[in-house]
Amino acid sequence: MTTIEELAPDHFELVGGWLSDPATNRWLASEWRGRSVTSVVMGVAVRSKRNRFFVIRHDGQPCGLVALAAVDIGDRVAMIWYLLGDKSVSGQGIITQAVKQVTQVAFGEMHLCSLYAWIMADNLASRRVLEKAGFREAGRIRQATCSGGEQVDRVYFDMAAESA
Ligand SMILES: CC(C)(COP(=O)(O)OP(=O)(O)OC[C@H]1O[C@@H](n2cnc3c(N)ncnc32)[C@H](O)[C@@H]1OP(=O)(O)O)[C@@H](O)C(=O)NCCC(=O)NCCS
Repeated sequence: MTTIEELAPDHFELVGGWLSDPATNRWLASEWRGRSVTSVVMGVAVRSKRNRFFVIRHDGQPCGLVALAAVDIGDRVAMIWYLLGDKSVSGQGIITQAVKQVTQVAFGEMHLCSLYAWIMADNLASRRVLEKAGFREAGRIRQATCSGGEQVDRVYFDMAAESA
């Protein structure tokens, strides 16, 4: 069973460790890429009103993170992003399930109208997660991110509350 819960201080170190893994953070936005993320950094990120972080549990064990960033209550929109921390459970659909659950929180409790995500053009696993979770490709910004040292396109996906 896959569940999500709001990230609390007792998991800052674990999540910071996942975010500090270069094999994971190479796919994330530049603010996380190639850096070491301490509990202090996590605390600052969690306190921002623009962010919400959710720890994913699979059969009770913390295994990943789904987050909302750029939360804009005025325009009722946010960006969603995620990572699998425990690679021993990859490919089981856990992240897809967790993304679906966070979309429900965003459109339900948070009353957002639209969610978006962007991937590096070569991030095929993340593309698949978004497609399986019901997101639709919305366009691209050319050469707008760096994947493994190569400048590549950002590919955007979106989901509207009315279609969720
Ligand atoms: C992206 C990520 C979260 C996916 O985790 P996961 O546990 O494998 O996710 P899921 O099991 O829900 O779905 C993965 C899907 O991608 C597919 N996939 C995995 N690697 C793939 C690849 N190289 N090419 C094509 N598809 C791939 C899987 O087969 C699965 O699809 P399926 O169910 O149709 O078989 C994980 O790889 C990760 O943490 N990556 C680094 C961080 C990251 O990229 N975050 C997203 C930033 S936008």
